[in-house]
Amino acid sequence: MYSVPKLDDYSPAALDARMQEALSAYQSEAAEVRAVAGDPSTNIVEKTGAFKRLRDRWMARQTGLFAQINDVWLRSAPPVAIRDVGLVVNKLRAILQTRLEELQRHVNFCALAPPETLVRMEAAGIGTLDLEAVEQSRLKTDAVDITLPGIRRPLGAEHPIVRTMNDIVGVFKAMGYSVAEGPEIETDYYNFESLNFPPNHPARDMQDTIFLGGQEQKAARDRLLLRTHTSPVQIRTMEKQKPPVRVVIPGRVYRNDAPDATHSPMFHQVEGLAVDANITFCDLKGSLDHAMKSLFGSSVKTRFRPSFFPFTEPSAEVLISCIFCGGSGYQGPARCPNCKASGWIELLGAGMVDPALYGFVGYDPEKYSGFAFGMGVDRIAAMLYGVTDLQLFFNGDVRFLEQFA
Ligand code: FA5
Repeated sequence: MYSVPKLDDYSPAALDARMQEALSAYQSEAAEVRAVAGDPSTNIVEKTGAFKRLRDRWMARQTGLFAQINDVWLRSAPPVAIRDVGLVVNKLRAILQTRLEELQRHVNFCALAPPETLVRMEAAGIGTLDLEAVEQSRLKTDAVDITLPGIRRPLGAEHPIVRTMNDIVGVFKAMGYSVAEGPEIETDYYNFESLNFPPNHPARDMQDTIFLGGQEQKAARDRLLLRTHTSPVQIRTMEKQKPPVRVVIPGRVYRNDAPDATHSPMFHQVEGLAVDANITFCDLKGSLDHAMKSLFGSSVKTRFRPSFFPFTEPSAEVLISCIFCGGSGYQGPARCPNCKASGWIELLGAGMVDPALYGFVGYDPEKYSGFAFGMGVDRIAAMLYGVTDLQLFFNGDVRFLEQFA
């Protein structure tokens, strides 16, 4: 520990030697402060505290080492030496002040710098504040080769099923329909009962249903299931609004069907519902004929044949003339594989809304009538894009999907 020596030799060389002693004492104490400041494990209070202690030890007005030097050296100096001693003391003060300012900047920088910077400074051997050196070392370690080719982020694209679903919805929107959606987890009531499938009715077997577990405590109609079709949204819509109703309902549906080329346990439907005064089967035929022509081309013909759904009466299957063979059943001399040479492709279910449904939603069946239809989007997409296996849509293989981008 440095303590201020008394002077006995006032020659310039001896005075300079005393000053150098004081400065080297200061330097070794400053080196310790620098070590604390550069240590990534010390905090801001420790760093700035170490600096302040050093500064006060040397420069405190009354008690600092410099004040003592000033006092002891000047007071004891014989008059002839006072000028020389004064010059040395002033020089020492100026040097100490400059070095303390430099050290303070360094400590402040270290106190605020992130630990990685301190580690880097240590690695680069930067003990004193040399911002340029710090920056240079950062540039070296963070160097980026701007001549490397960039990373091209591929643009996403609509999945072919989503695109098909949007196309179908678009056709009906152009006819004045609005779009409605409903929950994929549905109650037994909306999925079946209100659509005229009473409990235990054999029609429920047409849709192999995935039920949610742990529902046994609930009343049968409140039990939850994954909706098997978009038709529950017909009821939800009619509950919410009075006629006239014209809605188109896109969505995902689920059935316990084993996946194969034409089945998937998760697939998509677009449903339609129109209810108003004086709606007839002719309106259903005209609307669907127009929609099919818009989707598949104006030369496409439609055909209705009797079918059964509990919620429509009468019900129909709607077929379109085969878009691959033009309805002839043959492609040249070969039988058309798409329609199995029948010339027709079955595309959707439809019918007049069964008046029993109006009882569930509070519509007057004497006043209103309507039609509904529902189609499987996945099979339509497969047909439009020439995909022979529905599973390809769901495997997530980008090589397959990017063909549609
Ligand atoms: C229904 O789901 C009725 N809700 C449709 C309807 C609505 C009729 C309104 C009348 C009025 P269906 O069970 O036939 O009907 O299914 C409709 C379409 O879904 C089928 O034509 C078929 O294209 C598609 N589909 C059915 N099961 C699957 C499956 N596992 N994978 C892919 N598509 C399927």
